Amino acid sequence: MKHIKFLAVVALALCIGVSLNAKPKIRIIATGGTIAGVSTTSASSAYTAGQVGIQTLIDAVPQILQLADISGEQLVNIGSQDMNDEVWLKLAKRINVLLNEEGYDGIVITHGTDTMEETAYFLNLTVKSDKPVVLAGSMRPSNAISADGPANLYNAVAAAVSPACKGVGVLCCMNNQLLDAKTVIKTHTIDCDTFEGGPSGIIGYIYNGEAHMLQTPNNKHTVNSVFDVTKLDKLPRVGIVYGYANCSPLPMKAFVDAGFDGIVLAGVGDGNFYKDVFDVAVGAQNKGIQIVRSSRCPTGPTCLNSEVDDAKYHFVAALDLNPQKARVLLMLALTKTHDWQEIQKFFMEY
Ligand code: DGL
Repeated sequence: MKHIKFLAVVALALCIGVSLNAKPKIRIIATGGTIAGVSTTSASSAYTAGQVGIQTLIDAVPQILQLADISGEQLVNIGSQDMNDEVWLKLAKRINVLLNEEGYDGIVITHGTDTMEETAYFLNLTVKSDKPVVLAGSMRPSNAISADGPANLYNAVAAAVSPACKGVGVLCCMNNQLLDAKTVIKTHTIDCDTFEGGPSGIIGYIYNGEAHMLQTPNNKHTVNSVFDVTKLDKLPRVGIVYGYANCSPLPMKAFVDAGFDGIVLAGVGDGNFYKDVFDVAVGAQNKGIQIVRSSRCPTGPTCLNSEVDDAKYHFVAALDLNPQKARVLLMLALTKTHDWQEIQKFFMEY
């Protein structure tokens, strides 16, 4: 009997020892982008995104195996200019299963940089976990001189295993910096430091494989979000119209005629419309197509009831969201309500 007790104690000690030394389980979900791109010559900018598979990306950065128990899966392999609702819904549902049913401690998503900010914000509103979810990309293809992808992938895994990155919402990790999903924006077409955090700046940074956080988002996200894609197999259709001097109303008319559910205006200044566009927008709102005023200006809020009397026309002001993110929030808001005042509340909270 004593022998059996001794063996049981030894077995328990081994289990505890193993669990204490076990590395966090991190799943890398690959979607394509330049990080998986291949250039014809390493010095040229001519390349094709979404060519290299997930295992090649993982094999290129063996140091991540020191940080975590790594496994990967290829969801799609596309340039992110081709990112779409179908992939977004698959990605959000898959992340929720991995984090809430399969025991993963964090997720890294490799993704093109062109629409990374939109995917990050969509996931910020639909992931139902406070565990780290970190998107990483690159501005140089995988075989370029000084490719930036491997370091960005390593840093994203470092963030995904960091307790400091828990509960702050979805993050983007580029160029040693951590940016939160609501404020991250791609600001430069070719520079490696293209991502910025808007007026509030970056949320943290990675140094020597460790995450250092500088601030905490004050908007609702992830586990505090009311939006749930579990039962959704498509999203409302929302288009964006770009404003400019003497702007044609034809693009907005086309969205109305096509029966879109919402239209975001990338307006001039504080979300203003050219008069012909304004008239079409009023007509659209009266037909039940929700209008959201955002701005083509790179910084600054689109204010409620400023030069435009939103209350009179039942328009929604995008506040701190740029047009592409206002579109994401409006799409999800329309899965909950068509009430313009309720939608305006969502723009104040998320
Ligand atoms: N095709 C672009 C994309 O996949 C390349 C930009 C990049 O990934 O850096 O977003």
